[in-house]
Amino acid sequence: MAQKSRETFGSRAGVLLAMAGSAIGLGNIWRFPYMLGQNGGAAFLLMYVIMLLVFCLPVLISEYLVGRRGASNPYRCFSVLAPGTGWRWIGLLAVLSSACILSFYCVVGGWSVKYLVESCMNGFTAGQNYGELFGAFIGNAWKPLVYTMIFLGLTGLIIVLGVRKGIERMSKIMIKVLFVIIVLVVVRSLSLPGALDGVRYMFVPDFSKVTTSVMVAAMGQAFFSLSIGCGTIMTYASYVRKDENIAATSAGVAFFDTLFAIIAGLAIIPAVFAAAAQNGTAANVEAGPGLVFITLPGVFSSMPLGRIAAVLFFLSLLLAAITSAISLMEVVVSFVIEEMHRSRGRAVLAAFLLCGGVGVLCSLSFGPLENFRLFGLGIFDFFDYLTSNILLPAGGLLLTFFAGWHLKKDNYLDELTNGGTIRIPHWLCCTIFYLVKWVAPIGIALILLNCLFF
Ligand code: PHE
Repeated sequence: MAQKSRETFGSRAGVLLAMAGSAIGLGNIWRFPYMLGQNGGAAFLLMYVIMLLVFCLPVLISEYLVGRRGASNPYRCFSVLAPGTGWRWIGLLAVLSSACILSFYCVVGGWSVKYLVESCMNGFTAGQNYGELFGAFIGNAWKPLVYTMIFLGLTGLIIVLGVRKGIERMSKIMIKVLFVIIVLVVVRSLSLPGALDGVRYMFVPDFSKVTTSVMVAAMGQAFFSLSIGCGTIMTYASYVRKDENIAATSAGVAFFDTLFAIIAGLAIIPAVFAAAAQNGTAANVEAGPGLVFITLPGVFSSMPLGRIAAVLFFLSLLLAAITSAISLMEVVVSFVIEEMHRSRGRAVLAAFLLCGGVGVLCSLSFGPLENFRLFGLGIFDFFDYLTSNILLPAGGLLLTFFAGWHLKKDNYLDELTNGGTIRIPHWLCCTIFYLVKWVAPIGIALILLNCLFF
């Protein structure tokens, strides 16, 4: 049964900010710009927005709804709502997916700690080969590990402080700081000569670039960026009071998350085009996971006030990463507390050891374990691909089955309108429900099958 003494978020804005804090992270600032660069620019953005509205927003609303109704960790949520059935295994899958994500997420979090330290201590000077520097850093056997542990340790510390004191307070501050900083970097970036080509690349679609692999990538990115399909939203929702407006909060989270991704793209892509115009080379937007860490230091080094911009940028990257990492760790922690009956401190230690252990392997896959392959991918890339493109959509798919077919329409609509106390137009409620029951599962299943078998 749900526990009566469970903590809740203190305010309405707190819920929105904590969920937005989970959604807005490395996915927006590190992953989105490089996925956009690798998948055809505006064509990817267009696919992303479609996936978001048609599949991901309904999943987000359902995950929030199930979490609030079940009021416990993902595993128990399903046991409470569907006692004695096999649905609870979806909850376990969610806990597992969160642990898998945190394991490679903390490595990139560690890189952002390193780049923040670097930009504060030495700054970035023109003429250096940042590709080589980045490669040498991530290829080192122990340096990235230290930073990974610092990042994971910071995350654990915030979690130990508990829901309201730790997560809510941290998210409230960090997300506002982040917004201000990143807008400053956008202004800087857009004022560089040649930046307009980057804006065009981001917003004028070339429809010939829309392929199934772009669709798989866009859907995976949308799931990853919204933090859905792995129980984070469900866990946060379990701390929410019963009078929240689920649909409105979900729409707010999706809006702010997309806004941040586009703003992050505007901070990075035009700057890459501007630097290329200055050097007389082609813009290297396809640099992949290194885009932020390789291209931007070069960009910062050659622009006025670049040192300050670099410090601000990497600080915001770190802040965004931490608010997301705490939501991932909280899924594992709440599971250990409620299902294994351990204290919060011990649960955090367990999550730290588990994710840190796999994180070490992910980090080493850029160095000593470079040649070790899982299904043709390095360990880091394997966890990244597996979670975004397979585990999260699969988790989302199962959740839509549960919400659309097990909960049934009356219960779903009752939750959406808080028992008829919130006035949401009936047609809107029904549209949301039919998206959850039919459109999202069919669409997600088709793309997932395509990703697995073609
Ligand atoms: N959405 C987060 C980001 O964009 C990552 C994340 C994925 C967090 C899944 C929680 C769950 O960085």
